[in-house]
Amino acid sequence: MNMPLTSEQARPPAFSFEQVHKIFRSKDGADVVALRDVGFEVRQGEFITVVGPSGCGKSTLLRILAGLARASHGQVTLGGKPVTGPSRDIGVVFQSPVLLPWRTVLQNVLVPAQIQGRDLKVATQRAMHYLELVGLEKFATKYPSELSGGMQQRVGIARAFVNDPMLLLMDEPFGALDAMTRETMNLELLKLKERTGATIMLVTHSIPEAMFLGDRVVVMSPRPGRVTQIVAVDLPAPRTLEMINTDRFGTYVSGIRANLNAAGGLD
Ligand SMILES: Nc1ncnc2c1ncn2[C@@H]1O[C@H](COP(=O)(O)OP(=O)(O)OP(=O)(O)O)[C@@H](O)[C@H]1O
Ligand SMILES: [Mg+2]
Repeated sequence: MNMPLTSEQARPPAFSFEQVHKIFRSKDGADVVALRDVGFEVRQGEFITVVGPSGCGKSTLLRILAGLARASHGQVTLGGKPVTGPSRDIGVVFQSPVLLPWRTVLQNVLVPAQIQGRDLKVATQRAMHYLELVGLEKFATKYPSELSGGMQQRVGIARAFVNDPMLLLMDEPFGALDAMTRETMNLELLKLKERTGATIMLVTHSIPEAMFLGDRVVVMSPRPGRVTQIVAVDLPAPRTLEMINTDRFGTYVSGIRANLNAAGGLD
């Protein structure tokens, strides 16, 4: 007998990977298997974090989802449709920020708003708000070459936030930030998600950060990257920084660390 679908079941996942393989042909002709049989589904509005050792294919996974690289085999869907190329509606924070050198900080942050034809007055207010959050409001009229690497990374974060994207892909976005700014940005990201209902996939090297932010944590093995574990994080919402010091949080972190160590270590 066919049961009626609940609204949750009827909605397509925000995105999905099914049996995704990625093989790079390197310059010397040898094949590098970057991803092997990766499959998981993410619900609309879910915050998914990805941890794994360097070179395990995290950036490759994110780039395939963003339509910036193609899977060698397998299916990748976004809103129920196969990914065929880049989408304008996704906010991406790259591992190394890609800023336009001839544009000021503020003009760089405004690029996605301009591409989407948004009201520039409103967008400028939002851009300034996010620049303030990442501590760069005094640098709005400077050029990227006048900023440090960490500051450039923060411009990339403000730029990804400016349109309130429904899907936000972040590749080690906070790696270059000091601990205090990193905490502020973690909390800000949770608030942004609460406010907009966005789906977020964030790649990080930090197990505590993955745990603190994620509804689920995807754990990957060393190259060729496979998913070894998906941990549902059952911590109450809203998450608070105090939770990091609880036994429960510690138990989750050591469980993931043990899994990564068994698979060959985090780095
Ligand atoms: N364009 C490319 N051509 C050839 N090999 C590549 C290319 N991009 C990535 N690779 C290889 O694929 C593997 C996965 O790379 P990827 O950048 O996805 O890893 P990562 O998990 O993001 O690592 P990190 O944590 O250091 O950022 C690596 O072995 C890398 O050398
Ligand atoms: Mg990477």
